[in-house]
Amino acid sequence: MENANSYLSTKKLSKFFGEFLALDNVSIDINAGEFVCFLGPSGCGKTTLLRCIAGLEVQSSGTIIQNSEIISDLPTSQRDFGIVFQSYALFPNLSCFQNIAYGLENLGWDKKDTAKRVEELLSLVGLSDHIGKYPSQLSGGEQQRIALARAIATSPNLLLLDEPLSALDAKVRVHLRQELKNFHRRLGLTTVMVTHDQEEALAIADRIFVMDGGKIMQSGTPEDIYANSKNPFVANFIGMTNFIEGEVLNKNVITIDNKQIDFVDHGFTKSTKVLVAARPECIDLTAKNEKNMFDGTVVDVEFLGSFLRIYLNTSIMPNQRLIVDKPMIGNFDKSIAVGDVVGFTMSPTHLNVYEYDR
Ligand SMILES: Nc1ncnc2c1ncn2[C@@H]1O[C@H](COP(=O)(O)OP(=O)(O)OP(=O)(O)O)[C@@H](O)[C@H]1O
Ligand SMILES: [Mg+2]
Repeated sequence: MENANSYLSTKKLSKFFGEFLALDNVSIDINAGEFVCFLGPSGCGKTTLLRCIAGLEVQSSGTIIQNSEIISDLPTSQRDFGIVFQSYALFPNLSCFQNIAYGLENLGWDKKDTAKRVEELLSLVGLSDHIGKYPSQLSGGEQQRIALARAIATSPNLLLLDEPLSALDAKVRVHLRQELKNFHRRLGLTTVMVTHDQEEALAIADRIFVMDGGKIMQSGTPEDIYANSKNPFVANFIGMTNFIEGEVLNKNVITIDNKQIDFVDHGFTKSTKVLVAARPECIDLTAKNEKNMFDGTVVDVEFLGSFLRIYLNTSIMPNQRLIVDKPMIGNFDKSIAVGDVVGFTMSPTHLNVYEYDR
């Protein structure tokens, strides 16, 4: 389907490295001004897709369209983008000023305009005081902000970020991802960020493309992908999920461990073996004898600040522990402890059902 608003598209893009298929028929549309993430496990093809868009890698087949122009056969130098790599890749022998000015000088900007632009960019990333410093004199987070300033120095219409935060420690990473988001809000620059960190993608992206094995498994808003994961891979990769085996009784009922759970219409036919996916926060601990109550034994309780994570051994998940998250301000019994036998129910409106192919 054509998307009239699309600023950047790939159409049936494939990439072989020798015999190995790193990108498999990837077709995506990204709108002008969107912030999207390519998210997936190591080796799934995220960087390869980004590099194809930049022209740093040549596709084996398929096309790339940017701003209504086919760019897939253009050399890198004729494409319109700025890029930040995972390893900062600042020039170590150049100062912050010189690093940022580099692309402008290549374009033949005069000294005065270059100096003005560099100062503007340093102020944008909050590092005006560091103009004369060298990369080795900066923290990891500061280096990434300089790399960002350098990437947008020539005012590209597309910003490509390959795991720009992954080398930073957790606190700096969270801080910088908020800065990146604010930065995007202010400039409205179409931005593609590669990450394998699902929390980062959920926090920052307008839209996420979940990848596995060179394919796009699902695309959508963070909320949509989290609540309506299309398959077990996505449900498992984004956030946490309990997978529970069941069997379809009819289009509205699934049987789990001889108990019948009502659904509006899960879409599967009688006797289909299914996996019911329940997020940890969608499980309710209950008093005894409630309808459709399951039970389990508490094997671990973790205090995680704003919520408790409770691990249960239960017969409906024989090979794994069931995970239940409860906010600390919730009205459940917080004296819950290892060894307790507790009841729990699952609200069908928050469950996803997948066909179970063993
Ligand atoms: N130049 C290359 N030659 C051969 N194989 C390559 C080359 N570049 C990438 N690959 C392979 O293609 C696959 C995808 O690599 P890619 O770098 O795109 O993964 P990724 O999703 O970015 O992973 P990571 O999260 O680890 O960075 C990997 O299996 C990788 O080994
Ligand atoms: Mg990569």
